Amino acid sequence: MKAAGGSRTAVLVCQGRAAADGLASPGRFADPVAVELLRDDERRPVEQVRANTPPSTWLERLEYESVRACAAIAVPRTVAIDDAVRHHPSAQVVIVGAGLDTRAWRLPELADRAVFEVDHPASQRDKRERVARLPEPARPVRPVRPVRFVPVDLARDRLAAALAAAGYRRDLPTTWIWEGVVPYLTRAEVERTTAALAALSAPGSRLIVNYQARRPAIAVGQLISRAAYLVAGRRSMWANEPWRSLWTATAMANLLRRHGFTVGSDDDLLAVATRLPASTARRASLRSGRVAVADRPG
Ligand SMILES: C[S@@+](CC[C@H](N)C(=O)[O-])C[C@H]1O[C@@H](n2cnc3c(N)ncnc32)[C@H](O)[C@@H]1O
Repeated sequence: MKAAGGSRTAVLVCQGRAAADGLASPGRFADPVAVELLRDDERRPVEQVRANTPPSTWLERLEYESVRACAAIAVPRTVAIDDAVRHHPSAQVVIVGAGLDTRAWRLPELADRAVFEVDHPASQRDKRERVARLPEPARPVRPVRPVRFVPVDLARDRLAAALAAAGYRRDLPTTWIWEGVVPYLTRAEVERTTAALAALSAPGSRLIVNYQARRPAIAVGQLISRAAYLVAGRRSMWANEPWRSLWTATAMANLLRRHGFTVGSDDDLLAVATRLPASTARRASLRSGRVAVADRPG
C-alpha cells in the first residue's frame, strides 16, 4: 500500500456502509457510526446514493457509482462477519487491516472485550484523527475498554511483537477479523500473515477472513473504472492499492488447514445476500467476495 494519507479503499468501504445504513436489510444491517467517520466531501456521494440522485458531472458520477457498488457488497460482507463475531465473541478481538471499521463502536458484544485494531501506519493515523472527532451521541456502543491501535505494515513488520507491545495475550482465545485486506497483499504476505495469526491463536480462537476469488468480469470492471478515472484526469484508488492476490475457496481452505484452522463455513456474498435478503443486482462482484470462518480446535 503506497497511500501516504491512508487507505482510500478503507474510506470507500466506510462510504458504502454509510450509504446502506438503515436502508438495506433493516434489522440485519446497520452502521450509524460510518457516516460520522467521514469528512464532508466524502459524505456528499453518500448522501446522493441514499437519496438516489446521481450527480451530473462525470467525476462525481464516478464517485457516486463506486459508493453505490460498494454499498451492495458491504451489506452482506458486514452481516456475515458480524454474525461470525457474535456467535464467537472471544475475550480478545483483533481486527487486521481495520481501516474505518466501526465494530468496536457499534457491536454491543464487543463493548467489554479487548479490541485491537491493526493497520498500516498511514491508514491508522488517518483513522485515529477521525475517531477523535466522533461525537458521543453517534456511538451506539461506548467501548468500556479503549480500542488499542497497533500500527503494522503486514508486508514488513512483525505482527507478534507489535501486538505484544499493545498488551495482547497469547494465552487467551482470539477472534480475528481480516476483512477486505487479503487482495492487497501478495500470496507470500497472506501466507506469512496467516502463519503469524496462527502462532498467536490459543485453542478456541476463530479466524474470520474475507477474500476475493478470481472473476473475469471483475477484472474487466476494474480496468473500465481505471480508464474512466484516467479520462477524468484523476488517479483511481487502485493505483495506490492494487489487488495482489486472489484465492479460490480450495486454496484458502488449504492455507487455513496448513496453519491449524478448521474451516466451518466459506460462503460467497451472493449466497449471504440471498439469505438476508439484500440486493443481488451485482452478481459478479457478490460472487467474487467470500467470507470464510475457521476455528482453532479448543
Ligand atoms: C479495503 S480497506 C478495508 C478496511 C476494513 N477492513 C473494511 O473492510 O472496512 C483495506 C485495508 O487494508 C489495509 N492494508 C493494505 N495493505 C496493508 C499492509 N501492507 N499492512 C497493513 N494493512 C494494510 C489498508 O490500510 C486498509 O485499511
